[in-house]
Amino acid sequence: MTYQTHYDESIKTPIDFWKKRANDLPWYKAPHNILSKDENGMDRWFADGEMNTCYMALDFHVENGHGDNIALIYDSPVTGSSRKYSYAELLEKVAQFAGVLKQHGVNKGDTVVLYMPMIAESVIAMLACARLGAIHSVVFGGFSANELAIRIDDAQPKLVVSASCGVEVSRVIAYKPMVDEAINLAAHKPEHVILLQREQCQAQMQAPRDIDWEEAVQKVVDNNQAATCTPVKGCDPLYVLYTSGTTGKPKGVVRDNAGHAVALKYSMSAVYNMQAGDVFWAASDVGWVVGHSYIVYAPLLHGCTTIVYEGKPVRTPDAGAFWRVIEEYSVKAVFAAPTAFRAIRKEDPDGALLNQYNLDCLDCIFMAGERLDPPTYDWTVEKTGKPVVDHWWQTETGWAICANLTGIERLPTKAGSATKPVPGFNVQILDTKGQPLPPNSQGAIAIKLPLPPSCLATIWHDFERFNRDYLSEFEGYYSSGDGGYIDEDGYLFVMGRTDDVINVAGHRLSTGEMEEVLAAHDAVAECSVIGVHDGLKGQVPVGFVLLKDGVDISEEVLQSELVSMVRKKIGAVACLKQTLIVPRLPKTRSGKILRKLIRQIAEDTDFAIPSTIDDPQSVSEMKEVMVNNGLVRVKAS
Ligand code: COA
Ligand code: AMP
Repeated sequence: MTYQTHYDESIKTPIDFWKKRANDLPWYKAPHNILSKDENGMDRWFADGEMNTCYMALDFHVENGHGDNIALIYDSPVTGSSRKYSYAELLEKVAQFAGVLKQHGVNKGDTVVLYMPMIAESVIAMLACARLGAIHSVVFGGFSANELAIRIDDAQPKLVVSASCGVEVSRVIAYKPMVDEAINLAAHKPEHVILLQREQCQAQMQAPRDIDWEEAVQKVVDNNQAATCTPVKGCDPLYVLYTSGTTGKPKGVVRDNAGHAVALKYSMSAVYNMQAGDVFWAASDVGWVVGHSYIVYAPLLHGCTTIVYEGKPVRTPDAGAFWRVIEEYSVKAVFAAPTAFRAIRKEDPDGALLNQYNLDCLDCIFMAGERLDPPTYDWTVEKTGKPVVDHWWQTETGWAICANLTGIERLPTKAGSATKPVPGFNVQILDTKGQPLPPNSQGAIAIKLPLPPSCLATIWHDFERFNRDYLSEFEGYYSSGDGGYIDEDGYLFVMGRTDDVINVAGHRLSTGEMEEVLAAHDAVAECSVIGVHDGLKGQVPVGFVLLKDGVDISEEVLQSELVSMVRKKIGAVACLKQTLIVPRLPKTRSGKILRKLIRQIAEDTDFAIPSTIDDPQSVSEMKEVMVNNGLVRVKAS
């Protein structure tokens, strides 16, 4: 089968196409309505099917005699430990923890917030929620108490599940004080916190709210209260995952059970060319969408072995860490953000560490999360001798929108391109009026409706915002927020965000949110945060601040105060390290800060100064500040 025939089938006859893919999963009741409309007029997949994602990911394999196969490998260089779980063991642990949740009042449709490090128990807790038909909302461990509180207030969880700490390369981060602070800050008060005590740090427990994970599991075991699977409808939510938008309030992306399972199962063979029993490693974090889809759900739905890696690509202990894991566990496909390979390349440019390992088991390296720059692509191909597939996707879709379909037909790669649209995604480049542009013209990347299975159909409790953010710009299309072009061979080149979202070390962050934090400082009259190019992290945020009249504060002192405010309010992961005082910010005559223009100055792109600008002189002032601080990216010749 060629890529093109397969893709064309998905666009011309989507219902037949996805019905066939749905048949690859074990339903309680197979869906009859493959594609239907919901109360908001949105397209929904498999609405009347009955299923349980945890059943499909665990019980089904055990019932079919694969209980002894390895489901999950936990490898933790930061704690010096590792452990393997068979499908039967993982199922037992998930059923027991689901029993714990149930005993503490969690039922179908309830939400549970998870604030967890990269340990097997995170996967266990996610699957336990799925088993009960409850909706998990995982919050990345690098986010602050304040961010956790915002998500608690939006998700309104019955419970919070956490661990006593996360372990970073050179420090242990106590999670429990952050959970306590978040619950204090939040208006919504969860009934309980179920907490896993890790030996690296003992958390203070508050009775009767806090429940010890191990003790609660023991009770369930003693009383034979392990939980069975609760059937759900295809469109019942599996999870809510918050992602950054242009404003301070994160968006709760809602993922359906059925579309998600069908798309992910299909992707494992079509995109990643994996068979049941193969070892798949997504070196991400369960707090991000890549972790949800490709550490937890997709590998297990497909009967593969997944790896939960609590470490970094470098410093744990060195830049050979990835190659060690690949060799040790016979990894067939690895998936990580380009920034991880840039970090490895920086420390091991000649691949001396890489050469100490045998990578024969590895078929392909997949990258996503940010633009894969051609030098990183070339280095990885050259040093590993393996094919490298760049694929483009978003939290909103849950799986790749464009990729090289290694399981259908491996197309020639082009450095800088995420190759071609994945079946189901009708990707178009539009001009500002919503008209399709010819090949090689840059514009907004949009997806013609209907979106394929797994894509969001609303924002949690906020369909209005969903409609406004994604559907209102171009009628009949989903706006991705990314810009780019499609070349004469149909290859997509994603060039970056067209909004105020930035990508720092593969982490999606909102500059608008950082601006809200800076603006709260007493000395700051106005500010703007933009992402500037960074050789390791892709982008890093830099803040430009205008002082209030009469304020006397040094740039150094202000910077250190602003940096710690951002760490406290958003988290260390925001990586804001630099703020600069400017005499003025470029603005329109009506007083609106020209953020796009500021970004363009930093990128040194050819840009036209908007006719609405208040004073064109402000552009050269801004450029001078940037040049003096080495922030203007030198144009590639
Ligand atoms: N819990 C608590 N803190 C965390 C954290 C977590 N889960 N993850 C990151 N942090 C902290 C880090 O300790 C660091 O704190 P510091 O400023 O006090 O040193 C800060 O957040 C920034 O982290 P990061 O951007 O990850 O920088 P780093 O220097 O620790 O590591 C890389 C750099 C490139 C090795 C690392 O970013 C990486 O592996 N990135 C891959 C990202 C990824 O997988 N993205 C998912 C999309 S596929
Ligand atoms: P997230 O929702 O956190 O996965 O981030 C999604 C955003 O990351 C996209 O909108 C892009 O801006 C960027 N992104 C993800 N994958 C790629 C890729 N392969 N190439 C370019 N940008 C990417």
